[in-house]
Amino acid sequence: MRFEITVEKVKESRISEFDPQNIGFGKMFTDHMFLADYKNGEWTNPRIVPYGNLSLSPATSAIHYGQSIFEGMKAFASSKNNHDITIFRPSDNAARLNRSAVRMAMPEIPEDLFMAGLHQLLEIDRAWVPRTEGGALYIRPYMFATDDYIGVKVADNYCFAIFACPVGPYYNKALRVKVEDEFSRAAPGGVGFTKCAGNYGAALYPTALAQKEGYDQILWTDPIEHEWVEETGTTNFFAVYGKTVVTPSLTNTMLAGITRDSVIKGLRHLGYTVEERPISITELIEKQQAAEISELFITGTAATLMNLDGFGRNGTYYSVMETPNHEVSTAIKTFLDNIKLQKSDDPMGWNVVL
Ligand code: COI
Repeated sequence: MRFEITVEKVKESRISEFDPQNIGFGKMFTDHMFLADYKNGEWTNPRIVPYGNLSLSPATSAIHYGQSIFEGMKAFASSKNNHDITIFRPSDNAARLNRSAVRMAMPEIPEDLFMAGLHQLLEIDRAWVPRTEGGALYIRPYMFATDDYIGVKVADNYCFAIFACPVGPYYNKALRVKVEDEFSRAAPGGVGFTKCAGNYGAALYPTALAQKEGYDQILWTDPIEHEWVEETGTTNFFAVYGKTVVTPSLTNTMLAGITRDSVIKGLRHLGYTVEERPISITELIEKQQAAEISELFITGTAATLMNLDGFGRNGTYYSVMETPNHEVSTAIKTFLDNIKLQKSDDPMGWNVVL
């Protein structure tokens, strides 16, 4: 192996504190984490250490100027072999992290370093992968600038880290989304296609306002006309008209979801027609009024696949739940779950089995 990873294990595991029947999302972390440092133009000191606080300078440049990017991925307990876990499409996350890194003027992570750290961490903490229905191990790889310098410049030093947490569902009911027509998530030529921390921070205020109005999430529209659907605050977006599934085509203001890609490929494999094209709010309203929307759903690693109850615009709410029909979303969810849990073949070769 090109990267020798040193390992310091915990003296005592915290796993007895983990209640698989009551997992929640993102508050409990496994025993260990993976760290590597970027210094003098190269990645060094890859290591597994006990999960714990990092020590940072108050001048840490990521905190001031935002060179901070992340990924979200999941591992699952195999239903085929008791000891095995599957990791879903990790190379795609490694590739997307590097696309974010390039745009944010950060160093790329060699794929073999990403994979070596990931595999070793999961090997050591595999007992934390939940075996309960709907459970998964959520994995958070991320990188941030660590220069202790407050001039604005591309940093010289970075930390790459991976930690993991056992999780249950991110959302547990069909969501009501507000069509956002005042604030924008991203602008052409900006960083909307990256998974940089600032994209999420900038969404918090509009999301909080929407939540005060009784919505669960925001449905972002394009920043120019506020007419073309982009994504929600945490996921990509799909609409189903009978047997045809439509999803907004990717632009450089949108995040290219790996679950989005899996849903498109999986649906086509199952024989559905999927159109990737611009979708206007006017189209969605017309389709809803004509009762032609059979389902709306959203997709993401954390959220997996969740149906929408409906969408609101300018004080009018358009429900798609009057005659709920979740045939398509159920079919694709089952298809993907069966692959991840090794209940079926993996015709796309998406699982890495550990
Ligand atoms: C993910 O789905 O992994 C994300 O990063 C989204 C975040 C809202 C948890």
